[in-house]
Amino acid sequence: MADKTYENIKIVREGPITFLTLNRPGKRNAMSPALHYEMEEAMLFLATDKATRVLVLAGEGEAWCAGQDLKLYFRETSNNPEERRRSNASSHRWRWDLMTTFPKPTIAMVNGYCFGAAFTQLCACDFAIAAEDATFGLSEVNWGILPGGIVSWNLTDMMLPRHALYYATTGEPFDGKRAVELGLVNFAVPKEKLREETMKLAEKMLKLNPSVVRYTKEAIRAVRGMTQEKARDYLGAKQDSLHRADKEIGDKVGMKKFLDDKSYRPGLGPYQREEG
Ligand code: ACO
Repeated sequence: MADKTYENIKIVREGPITFLTLNRPGKRNAMSPALHYEMEEAMLFLATDKATRVLVLAGEGEAWCAGQDLKLYFRETSNNPEERRRSNASSHRWRWDLMTTFPKPTIAMVNGYCFGAAFTQLCACDFAIAAEDATFGLSEVNWGILPGGIVSWNLTDMMLPRHALYYATTGEPFDGKRAVELGLVNFAVPKEKLREETMKLAEKMLKLNPSVVRYTKEAIRAVRGMTQEKARDYLGAKQDSLHRADKEIGDKVGMKKFLDDKSYRPGLGPYQREEG
């Protein structure tokens, strides 16, 4: 069945890799209330869509996302508290709740401008690859607000506080290479290689056991807020839970292929899976 078509976003498939693209290029993919509602619906659908095994969050045109739409999200809801609350809640649901709990690997493919509120979905994706000449910025200070929603929290979670303070208080833009140094993205590549490198990472993820990948990414996020004692207890329970959920029984298969069959070296890469 064909995917639903939307006004502000689009779903494009490359086999098991699904590109979910903000599609308001004329407005540099700024996020309007309507875009938030569409993204929330699409993310909920794709989370359980069997054909989607890796999700790429992309931007149409020259921008990845120019943050919240100053006109449609801020100005036009300033006298409409119901709409402001509804769009704010929806915005957090897809950019953070649904993205950080997405059961399959997620990659932010940052082709161009990434401003303000867009940092939330940037930090929510498991991986981020940027064009070297992409432009990032905490522009809030330039027009009179602080990095709100959860952006200030995202910054100090992902970057060293020294960098977070500097870029949030100066609003100074920076490029993809600097974003790597700051810990915001994994790689910066020439723009013409961005899609190819994103596909390579997606294909690498497809070779791994999906249950183990899912439980691992959940664990990495969860332990950040825990004490060592709680993390140890949680990880023990999480491993037991993974063992029950993993249809491939990856740990037994992996051990057998290494110790008995001597067919691979886990230190150097994954074993060849039956599927994928
Ligand atoms: N909100 C509303 N409209 C926007 C936004 C935005 N965040 N970003 C761009 N647009 C619109 C412009 O108003 C313009 O619309 P128009 O053609 O109807 O006049 C169109 O997109 C193109 O924008 P330009 O500024 O002409 O494009 P340019 O390529 O020269 O610059 C840039 C792009 C740098 C992204 C610039 O538009 C900009 O600074 N945008 C604001 C970025 C920002 O500060 N975002 C808010 C962060 S704070 C937050 O998200 C909470």
